[in-house]
Amino acid sequence: MSIYKSVIRPIMFRLEPERAHELTLHGLKLAARFWPNPPPDDYILAIDALGMRFSNPFGLAAGFDKNADVYNAMFKLGFGFSEVGTVTPQAQIGNPVPRIFRLLDHEAVINRLGFNNGGQVRAVERLRETPKRGILGVNIGANKTATDRIADYVTGAARFKDVCDYLTINISSPNTPGLRDLQAGAQLEELLERVMSLRLSCPVLVKIAPDIADEDIADIVAIAQKHKVAGLIVSNTTIDREGVSSDPAASEQGGLSGRPLFRKSTDLLREIARQAGQDLVLIGVGGIASGDDAYEKILAGASLIQLYTAMIYQGPTVIKTMKRDLRDRLRVDGFKRLADAVGTEK
Ligand code: FNR
Repeated sequence: MSIYKSVIRPIMFRLEPERAHELTLHGLKLAARFWPNPPPDDYILAIDALGMRFSNPFGLAAGFDKNADVYNAMFKLGFGFSEVGTVTPQAQIGNPVPRIFRLLDHEAVINRLGFNNGGQVRAVERLRETPKRGILGVNIGANKTATDRIADYVTGAARFKDVCDYLTINISSPNTPGLRDLQAGAQLEELLERVMSLRLSCPVLVKIAPDIADEDIADIVAIAQKHKVAGLIVSNTTIDREGVSSDPAASEQGGLSGRPLFRKSTDLLREIARQAGQDLVLIGVGGIASGDDAYEKILAGASLIQLYTAMIYQGPTVIKTMKRDLRDRLRVDGFKRLADAVGTEK
């Protein structure tokens, strides 16, 4: 058993989840100064996507580094890219605590943080002060009290366009009432029209919820293609409680992440890959807990993948294990490069 599971996790899990997260951020920030750079990634894991070369497909999902505190530490851990945010134009405190719940038996989490963050001005300053040492995405959102939510995305895109490698438009958090309505046809059209009219030089992705109805998938894909969005991130957390309903925390409101999200988010990813063809880069997120899970997302159509909850349950070295296992799976199945495996499962 790893040191994380035998020593660190039992201590962390005695703490209130949000305190444990703060402690983790502090620890990572301090420790990373003394870490060496990770060894170079095996070439089989490299992939060209979004106009960049990723040395491996594993990214840190949004929500872990909301305020741009630890992105360089995550590169040192071996992530191929890291996504900061969600950041909103104004700082906001989010929902009342407690607002993160562990579902231990399921290696899952429910959160209803509600975009707690220090605001975009501070995050931009940090990104300027501390040059990124890897591929960095910034995930933008709207303030809860915004009267024109779409304007908040335009503001965020304009602010971060020069300090990130890609932008994520997050319209899929279940914790800001009404936010996910922006995924619906007319609103998504207007949102993308206004953001893309900024003629940003960095790629723009849209992060969607796993709970969208089957009949809405085609619309989202078509609108994304029409507005030349570079890709979709599939997916955010789910409001569904299938498979976890017996857990004491299952009745908490919020978005469920971790293992129970894997099937649902991967099925949606596969369907979107089928409909979008080569047009959109897909980032597969949701319940990745092993190299095999990552491989399944890639076969289903993801060029890149992200994770968060697996770090809570398996610790920061999980990335190293996943990279090794994915490399082995690719080799065993006869792939020469990761790109050859993307979307090969029909
Ligand atoms: C998240 N997630 C998230 N996503 C996002 O776009 N903006 C955010 O601010 C957050 N915040 C956040 C907080 C916490 C505590 C969790 C657990 C998750 C969602 C995250 O990026 C990811 O899409 C899901 O968690 C699914 O991936 P995992 O965790 O199952 O690997």
